[in-house]
Amino acid sequence: MADSTAAAAARGLTTTEAAFIEAAQHAGRLYIHQPYELYSEQNHEAWQRLFARMQPQWRRYANPQFLKGIDSLCFDASQVPRLEDVNRFLAPLTGFRAKAVSGYVPAFDFFDCLSKREFPTTITIRRADRLDYLPEPDIFHDIAGHVPMHTDPKFADALVRFGNCAHTAARMAADAPDPEEKQRRLTSMIKALARFFWFTVEFGLMQTPDGVRAYGSGLLSSYGELEHALTAPAVQRYPLQMEWVVNQGFDYHHYQPLLFIIDGFDHLFALVDELERRLAAGALMYVAPGAPDINDADASSFLRAE
Ligand SMILES: [Fe+2]
Repeated sequence: MADSTAAAAARGLTTTEAAFIEAAQHAGRLYIHQPYELYSEQNHEAWQRLFARMQPQWRRYANPQFLKGIDSLCFDASQVPRLEDVNRFLAPLTGFRAKAVSGYVPAFDFFDCLSKREFPTTITIRRADRLDYLPEPDIFHDIAGHVPMHTDPKFADALVRFGNCAHTAARMAADAPDPEEKQRRLTSMIKALARFFWFTVEFGLMQTPDGVRAYGSGLLSSYGELEHALTAPAVQRYPLQMEWVVNQGFDYHHYQPLLFIIDGFDHLFALVDELERRLAAGALMYVAPGAPDINDADASSFLRAE
């Protein structure tokens, strides 16, 4: 028993190795607390190294609102952040809060959380000896990549509107004449929503007075891809066009070869509005097939919402 306790402690809250997370998932608990005492020395070391090496990259390639956000969150560079500390600084700015989760949040529930200004947040962290290898989200991606953007009121308002889009999609699917057609419409609308989210919130670029900068969290939490996204000649960067984005598949196993640029967060808000209008008009029920795949958990989360 002492041995297994010691082994669990050594694994700490490492992504895919955390006994605490396995137990929560096994018990069906999605919303959890952050058991801060379980983070191991290696977990804190991973945070420290990830945070330190991003500093020069952020200064060169991140948008100004992100840099301001990082400052206002007062992170301790040497330790995994406590969500309650993050929220103490974040909530007064925009009402957003990081909310600990044990794993994947089905699409509707994820967007619905955003509409309530709650951000489902992974609490595990990648291994200290594999800083670049990251098939799953971790706390560095969620807290250092996403949350600084949530300090900006305009960005935060745009994020809330994704929740409205999800409700509209659920309503539009409910009008289908039969269950098969309902499933088909839903798959198309969730695909459109997921693609738009991917090419904006996760991998978006924006114009700033100093040139093009990143605001997408997938870029802002990736040491290698941030620079690549903004400087590699092979990356195609185009002004965001709604008709293109909702029909464009993507592959999350590789650096993104195609990225879209917005003018700012007023523009982003207007685009999410436009997305909702198209959903409500029934114009996104036949988007192009392709990635991402919409799994059963995602589809049924929308069906439950009707
Ligand atoms: Fe993300």
